[in-house]
Parts: sequence; structure tokens; C-alpha cells
Amino acid sequence: MTAPVSVPHHVAIVMDGNGRWATRRFLPRVAGHKQGVNALRRCVHACAERGIQVLTVFAFSSENWNRPADEVSGLLELLVLALSREVPQLRADGVQLHFIGERRGLSARLIAGLEQAEGATAGNSRMVLNVCFNYGGRWDIAQAAQALVARGEPVTEANLDRAMALAHVPDPDLVIRTGGEQRISNFLLWQSAYSELFFSDKLWPEFDEAALAEALTAYASRERRFGQTSAQVVREPLAPLQSQIA
Ligand code: IPE
Ligand code: IPE
Ligand code: MG
Repeated sequence: MTAPVSVPHHVAIVMDGNGRWATRRFLPRVAGHKQGVNALRRCVHACAERGIQVLTVFAFSSENWNRPADEVSGLLELLVLALSREVPQLRADGVQLHFIGERRGLSARLIAGLEQAEGATAGNSRMVLNVCFNYGGRWDIAQAAQALVARGEPVTEANLDRAMALAHVPDPDLVIRTGGEQRISNFLLWQSAYSELFFSDKLWPEFDEAALAEALTAYASRERRFGQTSAQVVREPLAPLQSQIA
């Protein structure tokens, strides 16, 4: 499906608010994360239907290891469970899965599961789904710089861009954060340089089609200027930033 120009090519989401969703219902926080997986399934489907080509979601940050041990182990178990439950459908739906983040320190079983899921969906081309797990924007910049140094390449913007964990997709056009907080929390620090930001008060388990539509409507009304003046942008729309520095 070809999307109209006002539909973002790449949407990225900080899926926040699972814990509060559960606590408000007197449920354990992990129950909120389980509902979060259901919300993600719906969101992937809705984005694919709307012609969004790339969806990147923040599932577990470098800093989330500092949560209580039972919540961390619950989240890891949920990831393993979601891999076995969701991958066959994602594969059938034409979704190409990528796990973005530091793998060192994860169990061999989990790494094998991530690689298997990526391999099973590698041939798909309808939509790319990047799941950021054990991810931090600072980690990404540092690992990209280290890779360049190891290869003896100069640390330029274009080289860094190619060494970043999301080098296989263009920068996000729209970054959505649910849960009411208005901060980035170490998500896509490099790639969101010129992304439009949208903050939703909905907790992630409640983020539905209507909430997505609201974010996309807001996006469609924005004027992206990439440093130019409004008059320039109206006359001759600029190519996305990434292609300028490549
Ligand atoms: C986001 O929901 C999911 C993860 C960080 C794993 P939270 O668990 O942060 O939910 P709140 O912010 O405590 O409500
Ligand atoms: C960001 O949410 C990380 C994910 C959604 C995975 P957090 O809940 O960890 O962010 P802070 O701690 O409120 O900034
Ligand atoms: Mg949170």
C-alpha cells in the first residue's frame, strides 16, 4: 500500500504507562506489561493498514534493569513468550522484525530466540518492526563510535549514521510517547534530531486506533522545516535530513 505524503514513513513509540495501568486496577505491574503486548499487536496491525513502512518501539531500556528483580524477570519471560506466540503471525503478515539493543549480557536462550525471530521474518517486506530491547540512545552512539574507531574510519556524521543500530531504516518522522510524560528517556537520541514529537496521555495498554489516528492527524498538520524557513519549505520541499548527510 502506498501511503499519502502526510503519512509518516517511520513512526517510533515510547510505550509507557503499563505499570500505572496495572496499579490502578490493583494488579501486579507485570499484568500491565502483558496488556502492553496486546496493545503492540493492535498497533502493528493498525500501522501496517495505514501504510506506515517502519515502526520502532521502545520495549526495555538500558536503565530498566534497575527495576525490582521480579519485574525485570517478568519482562524477560514475557519477551520469550511473545516471541513464540507472535512471530508466526508477524511472519504471515509480512512484518520484518529487528531487535535493536545490546545483546551482550542477555542469556544464550534469549539471544537465540531473537535471532530465530529475525531470521524467520527476514524475507518480509510489508513493514519493518524494530523492537528496542536493552536499548539506550547513548549506548547506540557509543557503540557506533567504537565500531568506527575499530575499523579506522573517521568519526563523521555520515559514518556514524551508517554504524548506528537503526542504519537499515530512515530516521523516524514521528516519535510518540504514551503515558503522559514529556521526555525522551534515552530513546533514539541521534535519530530523532528532526522528528515530530507527540505526547499522549493514554497509558500504553489503552493506546488504540483512535489514539494512533490522533497522533497521525497532528503529524499531518505539522510543517517540517529542517532548519529552513517556512517560505522555502512551501516552495521546494527539502529531502529528509538523512539523505543530506549521507
Ligand atoms: C513501560 O511502562 C514499559 C517498560 C518500561 C518496560 P512502565 O512500566 O514504565 O509503566 P509506568 O510508567 O510505570 O506506568
Ligand atoms: C521508557 O520508559 C522506556 C520504555 C518505555 C521501555 P520509562 O518508564 O523507563 O522512563 P522513565 O523512567 O519514566 O523516564
Ligand atoms: Mg514508565
